[in-house]
Amino acid sequence: MKMDENISFYNAAVEHTTEKNDNDIYVLAIESSCDETSAAVVRNGRDVLSNIIASQIDIHTMYGGVVPEIASRKHIECINPVITEALLQADVELDRINAICVTYGPGLVGSLLVGVSAAKAMAYAKNIPLVGVHHIGGHISANYICHPELKPPFICLVVSGGHTNVVEVSDYGRYNIIGRTRDDACGEAFDKVARTIGLTYPGGAKIDKLAKEGNADAIKFPRGHIDGHKYDFSFSGIKSAVLNYVNGCNMKNEPYNKADVAASFQKAVTDVLVGHTIEAAKEYGYKDIAMAGGVACNSALREEMKKACEAAGFNLYYPDPVLCTDNAAMIGAAGYYEYMQGVRHGHDLNAVANLKFGD
Ligand code: KG4
Ligand code: ZN
Repeated sequence: MKMDENISFYNAAVEHTTEKNDNDIYVLAIESSCDETSAAVVRNGRDVLSNIIASQIDIHTMYGGVVPEIASRKHIECINPVITEALLQADVELDRINAICVTYGPGLVGSLLVGVSAAKAMAYAKNIPLVGVHHIGGHISANYICHPELKPPFICLVVSGGHTNVVEVSDYGRYNIIGRTRDDACGEAFDKVARTIGLTYPGGAKIDKLAKEGNADAIKFPRGHIDGHKYDFSFSGIKSAVLNYVNGCNMKNEPYNKADVAASFQKAVTDVLVGHTIEAAKEYGYKDIAMAGGVACNSALREEMKKACEAAGFNLYYPDPVLCTDNAAMIGAAGYYEYMQGVRHGHDLNAVANLKFGD
């Protein structure tokens, strides 16, 4: 396969858990909403036979963030080789595929269109049912792959680069939004604070690593709460507080400890994320809590949520790190349940950049 040398390419399949059966349902899933081109073959919703991910992150790092025009061009280069490789690695013929599932929103419209067009072309040419999938439903469903015992209903904290929600998952594909962000998404706040202290994009994982060397109680950053909306989030206040702190130190020519800033910021954000999620589970009466999205990789968040769940007697679930960030296997898991519930999309399926989430 010939691709841009700056694109990293790997297979994140998950060990097979079931025996092959004639009645098995195979879906081919496609994800291209941001800067990862991914295709996966998923059996019966939870068994990931292949999960090919071509990541453009190294290219966008040079620009300090995702450049939409470059992202769509790179998706075009990658999409066919990635799909071919997914079928090859899974050792499944396209003719055996029961449904083609594709992310159709939300995301960058030029990026989404590449995956949607490829899915529609294959569905049309081979007369295979087409199922459009919501990207956030995909993130949540990554938990089904890693935890075969997990079934709705449960509360899920979705924390990604574009979304921050406390969600009541009442059934497969049924989402009731309990809390949302009023401004930046959580991952976006991590990325912006990272940039403020001189870390390159995407900064979330770098803050996580640096924070391990810092004192989380060194600086008191504000916890964003919204009056009258106890499950909503706001990250703009803390983002400005970090910026003011760093600018203040720079103006006074005083050195500041980057690791302390990272740890203190991370603690302030984690406190609010954990607090809202646990409160929601108590109020709605659920014992199972899941986390999803790129920030669900964060080690402090995992640790604090684990402690809070143990104290409250809740079960906690989160996906393997590779399934927290964008990948097609999670779209295959979500799409399988949609397909089984009879969801079908026509060949007029379009990419929807701001696709609404929730019932
Ligand atoms: O879910 P995702 O891959 O993309 C979206 O759908 O938005 O999430 C990417 C986000 C980025 O903002 C990245 O900085 C953040 O997840 N992230 C982290 C960590 N790993 C990735 N944030 C905090 N700690 C991490 N370990
Ligand atoms: Zn995502």
